Amino acid sequence: MGKLLIANWKSNPENLAEARKLAKSIDVRQVVVAPPFPFLEAVNSILENASLGAQDVFWSGGPYTGAVSAGQLKKLGVKYVIVGHSERRYHFNESDETVNRKLKAVLGVGMKAVLCVGEGPAYRRNPKAAKKFVRNQILKDLSGIKNWKLKIENLVVAYEPVWAIGTGLADSPEHAAEMAAEIKSVVGKFSSRDDIPVLYGGSVTSKNALRFLSLLEISGALVGGASLNPSEFRKITRLISRAKH
Ligand code: PGA
Repeated sequence: MGKLLIANWKSNPENLAEARKLAKSIDVRQVVVAPPFPFLEAVNSILENASLGAQDVFWSGGPYTGAVSAGQLKKLGVKYVIVGHSERRYHFNESDETVNRKLKAVLGVGMKAVLCVGEGPAYRRNPKAAKKFVRNQILKDLSGIKNWKLKIENLVVAYEPVWAIGTGLADSPEHAAEMAAEIKSVVGKFSSRDDIPVLYGGSVTSKNALRFLSLLEISGALVGGASLNPSEFRKITRLISRAKH
């Protein structure tokens, strides 16, 4: 399988013209572009090769002011939905229970869910505790999904240590690989597959991306800041074909 890159634009850019420009510059196969909700439709009309992603979802349609449902995203052409990003867990107080409901909504309508997990700075120097933290996070986030055997095939996990996001301090590829192996084994309990794709995210740049993409355990990268710079992101997309495994 080829490697996958997800461009997480977060709450950028501010206007539609810039969003269009950015979308035109990164229309490459094996890439998912996740713009803010207001730009989904415009970006989708530009992308020919890349897939459309969303950064969040609510678990239901109906009387939920401000919410966007999985069904609405699907009808807009969204293929991948990021769920449980640490910025949502932190700034919007999202609990594992919330993440679990969102995951079920996304998998329930047949889209791919990109579940973000990762330990905070307190675990940085303690790999054993970090593994335990992430294992528990996944068990809670996937709770009750065991019986959804077929649907879990649509799950992608992104390992994103919180301390590495937006800081310029990427994880070491060795540690990311170790965490990815752990994640695969935990998800294996929910599915007949133990080869669920695990991406790495956190300060990925054109300088360090190949070190992550070349690892057997890592199926791609979730790229934030660097995806907003067209020349930098283009360099990262070119590395996909150079990645071993
Ligand atoms: P970053 O963000 O690449 O800017 O560190 C990654 C992410 O939050 O998905």
